[in-house]
Amino acid sequence: MTAAVPPLLSCRNVGKSFGALAAVNNLSFDLTAGEVLGIGGPNGAGKTTLFEVISGLNPATSGSILLSGRDITRLAPEEICHAGVARTFQLNAGFDSLTARENVLVGAYFGRANRRMPSFRVGREANAAADEAMALVGITASAHRITGKLPVLERKLLMMASALATKPRLLLMDEPVGGLTAKEIDRVMQAVRAIKAAGITIILIEHVMRFLVQLSDRVMIMHHGEKIFEGLPGNLVNDKTVVDVYLGQGASERLRHFMREGATAHG
Ligand SMILES: Nc1ncnc2c1ncn2[C@@H]1O[C@H](COP(=O)(O)OP(=O)(O)OP(=O)(O)O)[C@@H](O)[C@H]1O
Ligand SMILES: [Mg+2]
Repeated sequence: MTAAVPPLLSCRNVGKSFGALAAVNNLSFDLTAGEVLGIGGPNGAGKTTLFEVISGLNPATSGSILLSGRDITRLAPEEICHAGVARTFQLNAGFDSLTARENVLVGAYFGRANRRMPSFRVGREANAAADEAMALVGITASAHRITGKLPVLERKLLMMASALATKPRLLLMDEPVGGLTAKEIDRVMQAVRAIKAAGITIILIEHVMRFLVQLSDRVMIMHHGEKIFEGLPGNLVNDKTVVDVYLGQGASERLRHFMREGATAHG
């Protein structure tokens, strides 16, 4: 008998408290390799905090997190990155005075192993990883532009490329289309599809529900640090709790209509 393959990511009774506030409360879910999990929920639901906990920037106060069966709950952020988990941030992060490509090179260089700054010499492998990551999200044309001068869409894609340059197995994206226009959202959608096609497992946090339901294989909705829904995107609009605490009647009607008509019209 062969042992079952463990999930790529397994969060078991994960909690993160700030004093009396349980920002993430006893949360459990599994993620299979190759899947796209979408996370939604009201402001302050604990979505970003969950990413902080998984990526080790702000470790869990209870529970455990396993990556392919290995306990990563107490590892340092760089160790978690080297284990194969990369993330993007809700607000733009990056070195403004460097070019886009230099930003991605930083990810490629530091993302795979521990390095010491005095030996900073970017090898062939890091250069290739950087170019591959930029091509995957479609920002090769902006490679030599100064990061601080890039438009917001390109900055978002750049953050994705920097994370991808670490060659992750799991990519966490925190509101990748926040503040973008419909046309810009389409470009990010294309990038996410390319990342998935490259075999990378994805967790997306997003308030833009059309984006979330079109890309996700499964959706989880959080509220007060807890999971109030987990299931197929198509079942979201039929869930009374989700409609009551998050979507609202109007938005869920529009989403229902979009999923019936729009999804075919918009691909
Ligand atoms: N470092 C911190 N110290 C204290 N409280 C925090 C800290 N980080 C987050 N919180 C609190 O934890 C709760 C969850 O915040 P979080 O940023 O995870 O929500 P979110 O679901 O990402 O919301 P949004 O959709 O607005 O981004 C909020 O009440 C927030 O104020
Ligand atoms: Mg957030």
